[in-house]
Amino acid sequence: MAALSKDAAFWSKISRKYAADPIRNMEGYLNTLERTKSYLQAEDSVLEIGCGTGSTALLLAPHVAQVTASDLAPGMIEIANEKLAEEELENVTFKVAEVLQHDPNDGSYDAVLAHNLLHLVPDMGHALEHIATLTKPGGVFISKTVCAPESGGFKYGLISRIAIPIMQLLGNAPFVNFVSVAELQHAIELAGFDIVETADQAGLLPSRYIVARRL
Ligand SMILES: C[S@@+](CC[C@H](N)C(=O)[O-])C[C@H]1O[C@@H](n2cnc3c(N)ncnc32)[C@H](O)[C@@H]1O
Repeated sequence: MAALSKDAAFWSKISRKYAADPIRNMEGYLNTLERTKSYLQAEDSVLEIGCGTGSTALLLAPHVAQVTASDLAPGMIEIANEKLAEEELENVTFKVAEVLQHDPNDGSYDAVLAHNLLHLVPDMGHALEHIATLTKPGGVFISKTVCAPESGGFKYGLISRIAIPIMQLLGNAPFVNFVSVAELQHAIELAGFDIVETADQAGLLPSRYIVARRL
């Protein structure tokens, strides 16, 4: 078996803890889920990238035709499959895959989701271009992304320049690349999407929920 990348190993290592930890902002999570559901149709084929332990995919599955949900980390997908085994759902497939490993020749999707993922991807522009090839024209790309605050600020400086680099050195944090909301939206548009909804969500660092339609 091929060796895991540093990030795949990191996320696999923390997967059981990630699954056990309560959702920090439950109100925000449920709001994201409801907004996302409102863009989905019963006949839709959905791809969720960076699905973690699969909770969102399992909650959305009863509302759509098919869900494929993937994650870089085998540990996350192992837990997702354990959860799936406890459900009576026939329309969900979990698989281990990095964003760029999805082959557009295998089919495109009515909706592609990436929640809490884009700030973890080394080349966000390239990932977004690839995501566009996986989204049907007229389909939606729905993402939530931790962003850099427009004004910077002491807390952001402390987290991004001191806390995270130290944790990365110790192997306790993955790769992260925070961009501003303006940069994020520009990158999504550049990849071939039209933004139809964009909203802030509170958190330790600001998080942006964006729905974009494939041109
Ligand atoms: C912060 S967690 C978010 C999980 C889930 N989407 C959620 O909102 O709870 C980020 C997830 O993205 C995965 N991930 C990180 N980089 C990735 C990449 N390049 N391709 C696919 N998945 C990735 C990690 O393994 C992890 O499960």
